[in-house]
Amino acid sequence: MPDTRKILVTSALPYANGSLHLGHILEYIQTDIWARFQRTRGNDCLYICADDAHGTAIMLKAEQLGLTPEQHIANMQAEHERDFTDFLIGVDNYHSTHSEENRELSAMIYRRLSDNGHIASRTITQAFDPEKQLFLADRYIKGTCPRCSTPDQYGDNCEACGATYSPTELIDPVSAISGATPEEKDSEHFFFTLPAFTEFLRNWTRSGTLQDEVANKLAEWLEEGLQEWDISRDAPYFGFEIPDAPGKYFYVWLDAPIGYMASLKNYCDENGSNWLDYWKKDSDAEVYHFIGKDIVNFHALFWPAMLDSADFRTPNKVCVHGFLTVNGKKMSKSRGTFINARNYLDHLNPEYLRYYFAAKLTAGVDDLDLNLDDFIAKVNSDLVGKVVNIASRTAKFVGKSGGVLAAELADESLWNQFVEAAPRIADGFERREYARAMRDIMALADAANAWIADKAPWSLAKQEGSEAEVLAICSQGVNMFRALMTWLSPVLPNTAAKAAEFLNSALDWNSATIPLASHEIKKFKPLLQRVEKTQVDAVMEAAQESLAQLQAETKAATGPLADDPIAEQIQFDDFAKVDLRIALIAKAEHVEGAGKLLRLTLDLGGETRQVFAGIKSAYAPEDLEGKHTVMVANLAPRKMRFGVSEGMVLAAGPGGKDLWILEPHEGAKPGMRVM
Ligand code: MSP
Ligand code: ZN
Repeated sequence: MPDTRKILVTSALPYANGSLHLGHILEYIQTDIWARFQRTRGNDCLYICADDAHGTAIMLKAEQLGLTPEQHIANMQAEHERDFTDFLIGVDNYHSTHSEENRELSAMIYRRLSDNGHIASRTITQAFDPEKQLFLADRYIKGTCPRCSTPDQYGDNCEACGATYSPTELIDPVSAISGATPEEKDSEHFFFTLPAFTEFLRNWTRSGTLQDEVANKLAEWLEEGLQEWDISRDAPYFGFEIPDAPGKYFYVWLDAPIGYMASLKNYCDENGSNWLDYWKKDSDAEVYHFIGKDIVNFHALFWPAMLDSADFRTPNKVCVHGFLTVNGKKMSKSRGTFINARNYLDHLNPEYLRYYFAAKLTAGVDDLDLNLDDFIAKVNSDLVGKVVNIASRTAKFVGKSGGVLAAELADESLWNQFVEAAPRIADGFERREYARAMRDIMALADAANAWIADKAPWSLAKQEGSEAEVLAICSQGVNMFRALMTWLSPVLPNTAAKAAEFLNSALDWNSATIPLASHEIKKFKPLLQRVEKTQVDAVMEAAQESLAQLQAETKAATGPLADDPIAEQIQFDDFAKVDLRIALIAKAEHVEGAGKLLRLTLDLGGETRQVFAGIKSAYAPEDLEGKHTVMVANLAPRKMRFGVSEGMVLAAGPGGKDLWILEPHEGAKPGMRVM
């Protein structure tokens, strides 16, 4: 291996149909730490990502929003890129699978597979939505469970009794998109002949490319026998048309991993290098894919087989991580544990989460829990209490004696502990055992703090003639801080940059354990604030709110569909609790930063209420002022990002522009109870 390794790293390309949540961010932070570690070691490391922009879900989502797929994916990509930047995820290129590079590379790879006899075609029968004129994947069919008769179950399994079945077995199946009864229809499909690669994959999955637990799982699948993989979809589909097959499109998962190459090619074309240097058969570069455990089959079976057929090299490693849970629960919209990237960023420093994830990440595939109390405790105790504390306790004394560090170390043997730990810490990063690396770093921080406490330069400084000794102690303190900060720099890039400025010296791995001697440093400024519980609470509140907004949007966009059944029955008493009142819309205003909401000031005949209503798509504020409407007057107030909402106005309609507030008959007076 040459001295400088040439490395390509990728993260799984996020779907362009929704916002990033903290589960995605876990993966991107894991990858980014690894890429930054490689760079600080002096390796040549490219980190490449993109949006995964194709598929039925994205097509339908764009339609719901009244956008073209191209507009929708452009919006999503811009949002995803902002989240990456703000979480300090330093990709070298962020592209899209809906790009010219990807269109060409996908066609080229498909041709090679086809020329090698690895594409088969045959006719299959599938459910078809006659209204939408669209073939329906299982998840777009709903009906009554054939086993337990629970209504409204998805096409392949029942949430109530756990039965699995094929959508044709559902009782009264309907299309979840249009509500129409699906028909059966034939169509020709193309298949990648995966079974032809069984031997190749047996070897490849055991050649050090995968964690053992992942390779074992794959061995089971290989034992059961591989199936041909359906790589085509019929129009209408948002994707690339298959060469020489009009009306047939590549299934999103065919061109998604090729998107890694396409984004790299886009980067190389702009930077005067050649993407093939990374992907040709005899490449001397290393290629690593970071992915979650749900997409292993695509990366460790289909992808290497495709690469092999198309005469490209395969990745050195597919690094698989587990799923993020929040407070011990699966991230879920219904449990309120679903946190968007932006919810976090609006209230907290990204480096806190980067450190917390690093402190918990191993090379295994176990799920990882974000426990919010532990998060606060760990960030405050480790980063603020241990690491930054070393500098803030010692820097001022160096400042007092002229700002120049001592020529020699005060405690050589303590320093040697740092020197000896460095290779083990590097090994932790390299093997993705970040939790171990963080523990090693914090153990050294503890040793440094204990030593400083014992030397107590603050007391010593009060004695006559102690200046040189105080300087020697504090210089060592500053140097220990510098080593720790260098090792933490892949995790805390912003704080490391501030530390480098204060230290007046670049931080790189190879010089971390060479102490700065007789070196001038700058004035120390506070580097990191403590996390406050109120900030974490604000994140959780924002998460609840975006969820409510998302659900309202989806409801408004889908309208009265088959997947929006009448809710559970309530008793008259429940109904009687709802206090419906006539309200005069005294004022209606735009809310800055809110896409859907208007702020209404409602007059209840003496009492005024502020209510945020998601009716901006249908009403301009000036059209509302002076109107009477009906409101739920006894809804508990809800704190939203823009203020407190004290009730709810009633509106009806399919959504979007077609949404009407209830306008009671004349004679209704504000405050009157609605019968
Ligand atoms: N578009 C595909 C990937 C194509 S790669 C050629 C996809 N997108 S995704 O948006 O659903 O997921 C992107 C990555 O985020 C995946 O690696 C997935 O495992 C990961 N995660 C999604 N939810 C997650 C958690 N709750 N926790 C950790 N990772 C999670 O799959
Ligand atoms: Zn059932």
